[in-house]
Amino acid sequence: MNEEYITHEYDVVIIGAGGAGLRAAIEASKTGVSVAMVCKSMLGKAHTVMAEGGAAAALGNKDPRDNWQIHFRDTMKGGKYLNDWRMARIHAQQAPDRIRELETWGAIFDRTSKGLTNQRNFGGHTYPRLAHIGDATGLELIRTLQEKGVHMGMDVFMEFTVRKLFTTNGIISGCFAYDRNDGTLHVFKSKTIVMATGGATRCWSVCSGSWEYTGEGYALAYWAGAEIGDMEFIQFHPTGMIWPPSVKGILVTEGVRGEGGMLTNSEGNRFMFDYVPEMYKDEFADTEKEALEWVSEVVDGKLATVRRPPELLTRDVVAKAINSERDAGRASEHGGAYLDISWRNPDQVKKKLPGMYHQFKELAAVDITVEKMEVGPTAHYVMGGIKVHPETQETTVPRMFAAGEAATGLHGANRLGGNSLSDLIVFGKIAGEHAALVAQGLSDFLVINPVEIEEAIKETLAPLTRKEGENPAKVVEDLREMMQNKVGIIRTEKLLREALQDLDDLEIRSQKTSTGDSRIYNPGWHQALEIEAMLDVSRMCALAALHREESRGGHTRDDFPLPDYKHWGKINSVITKKDEMSIEHRSYPPIDEELKKLLDIEDLHEEE
Ligand code: FUM
Repeated sequence: MNEEYITHEYDVVIIGAGGAGLRAAIEASKTGVSVAMVCKSMLGKAHTVMAEGGAAAALGNKDPRDNWQIHFRDTMKGGKYLNDWRMARIHAQQAPDRIRELETWGAIFDRTSKGLTNQRNFGGHTYPRLAHIGDATGLELIRTLQEKGVHMGMDVFMEFTVRKLFTTNGIISGCFAYDRNDGTLHVFKSKTIVMATGGATRCWSVCSGSWEYTGEGYALAYWAGAEIGDMEFIQFHPTGMIWPPSVKGILVTEGVRGEGGMLTNSEGNRFMFDYVPEMYKDEFADTEKEALEWVSEVVDGKLATVRRPPELLTRDVVAKAINSERDAGRASEHGGAYLDISWRNPDQVKKKLPGMYHQFKELAAVDITVEKMEVGPTAHYVMGGIKVHPETQETTVPRMFAAGEAATGLHGANRLGGNSLSDLIVFGKIAGEHAALVAQGLSDFLVINPVEIEEAIKETLAPLTRKEGENPAKVVEDLREMMQNKVGIIRTEKLLREALQDLDDLEIRSQKTSTGDSRIYNPGWHQALEIEAMLDVSRMCALAALHREESRGGHTRDDFPLPDYKHWGKINSVITKKDEMSIEHRSYPPIDEELKKLLDIEDLHEEE
């Protein structure tokens, strides 16, 4: 077989077109290196837009008491202290500048009455901290970065799926991709690569992610020899739509709760008061169950009293509470919980949450200014990912960088809402800067082994040659359903072992799928190829979840329902490719003593 392919040469190749990729591209392009952005879908069509409610940054506009130290503390606490504290510090320190920079590039944030960037409450943030644009913050962020980026001179390859990363003597040397439109094959030689590929929540049947979100980034990095960390920690956002079935999983922004939305069960009880975890108990000690006034106090920004409603506990807590209410027989009509913002002035609701107003009106025939919404958990974010150096974002494969949801470290066991948008602009910038710096110091491209290119081509074209077989869509559907049922919010050893076996069975089926032989926009072919990554990413998650015998953040074991502070509270999981998928456990370096003073020391359970 001698299939033709087109060769490209770039100093920096960025894979992924969301906020992290765009921010990296802007930074790299600034230095004058050649930059290619390779994206699976359209430029800017990314999960970034699903961070609707805002970007967290301690600007102190809404409450002057806020500062980076408190943001650092909140992030560590929300992450149940499994975060890389070095990344949490960099993030908290740099997020305000990155937001201000976006404004100079044309992002139009909502304003306070004094003309400052407005900030709203979100779960786990001590003060109103989320800079926002109504409920379309991610979209505005993408629009701004895209506009800035395309004027910086990068080349954009849209609808290209990357199938393989090449290494030469263990160092990144390029990647192989195909064009989804016409099936042409492409080799990118590059001096450095930035993985900005986002997450993998399409591996679950109820998710907020779009079709692109199948986890290739994690799989590509793993296949290339990179370390992948903390894959057991999956964020189920508490509020996705649940009715009608065709829209199940679509995000209902935390901004609804940030603006005062209350969660109730079928008995009309505001149940979140019953689920306040030990580590947040003090904050809620003097709140009265039925009191509404103090919610509006926060909503209207009266700064003297900052008491968050229990609906703004962290996402792991709220998602599990909704689950528990359902298990106790107190679910809403279609199996979730009610979310009510109708007590607020309708004009305010429409002004602050225009997207949600239209989303419910058009998709569910519900007017949220007068009726309750029905919501339930939806897979939204992967806290795990490619392990990176905290100051450069370089992965364990030299010259390969990663940023945003593709990388791990910042969020620990649970991400605070709003910390993803700030994550990708802070670490996207750092990744782009360092990828460019390394590329500038190299005179030549490394040689890519032609045999590896031939192999990548053969594997890519294989599904087209199979005359008979199952529809790949069915295998994908079964995988997603299985992950939802066995590696979902609540896990057990039995379920996880079954999941690993099921993945082996699904792999056998995936090798026999048939897609027709056309290379011209053939969705069956694309799906047949995506399964490989979905299988390995699902395996990483199930394997890491099986090993972690405790419950913490986005990982709950019914057979080990409590956190284990002594052992598991101090170690992160690391997956690497050996003969088979292998797992070990390691800690980040001990936290700096000065920073440690910022934490709620009793949360650390140091005596245990
Ligand atoms: O609910 C939301 O608006 C999502 C934000 C995020 O995931 O950061």
